[in-house]
Amino acid sequence: MSESRTIQLAPSLLASDFAALGEAVERLQGVVDVYHVDIMDGHFVPNITMGPAIVKALRGHTDAILDVHLMVSDPDRWIDPYREAGADWICFHIEAAPHAQRTISYIRETGARAGVALNPATYVPGIDYFVENGDFILAMSVNPGFGGQKFLPRTLNKVRALRAELAAAGLNEVQIEIDGGVDVGNAAEIVRAGVDILVAGSSVYGAEDPVAAARALQAAAEEGLR
Ligand code: DX5
Ligand code: ZN
Repeated sequence: MSESRTIQLAPSLLASDFAALGEAVERLQGVVDVYHVDIMDGHFVPNITMGPAIVKALRGHTDAILDVHLMVSDPDRWIDPYREAGADWICFHIEAAPHAQRTISYIRETGARAGVALNPATYVPGIDYFVENGDFILAMSVNPGFGGQKFLPRTLNKVRALRAELAAAGLNEVQIEIDGGVDVGNAAEIVRAGVDILVAGSSVYGAEDPVAAARALQAAAEEGLR
């Protein structure tokens, strides 16, 4: 990985007060440049969160990147609605997408940045066949569906394996995002394993002072670059 590697913290709005989502993004303005937005359909995962109308409303409260994580069945159906609502990054689960290469290409065609998410137990040798520099891989470090779960440390083995696979394919610019159970105690180790984007819900919005919590997480993650 290059020296110029930068780490991004993506606070997950799932852990914020859903009756005050606008305030949640405004609160971290200037502290972070990407927000993670968890879309759950009650079918792919056993929980329901928000839809395109809410992403559209959020778009009116921030110019930051909206990182839309689709935990939905049949993701192809939802790419246009979320892109039109203002999603900048769109990521879908490979477990829900039988033609992942087609799905990822379509996301790119809409002008959004494309990501492919992997459940904790999913490992996809040959992922380099369909990601390109510019895309990202989201490694779930908890089972998707709920915030506030415990980080599954074995996920880091997968991150290291993915990193090696990507390097062998000349895809060093593909970023790896990790999602679930991230906190100040594990952020540095996560970065050392090869992660570039850290999603954090409870450890940011569940904290008394989300700004201080986000800054502490950023500092902890930067430690992993040293
Ligand atoms: C879980 C979601 C995560 C969640 C992470 O299904 O995809 O983005 O918000 O929350 P924490 O950081 O609390 O584990
Ligand atoms: Zn997520």
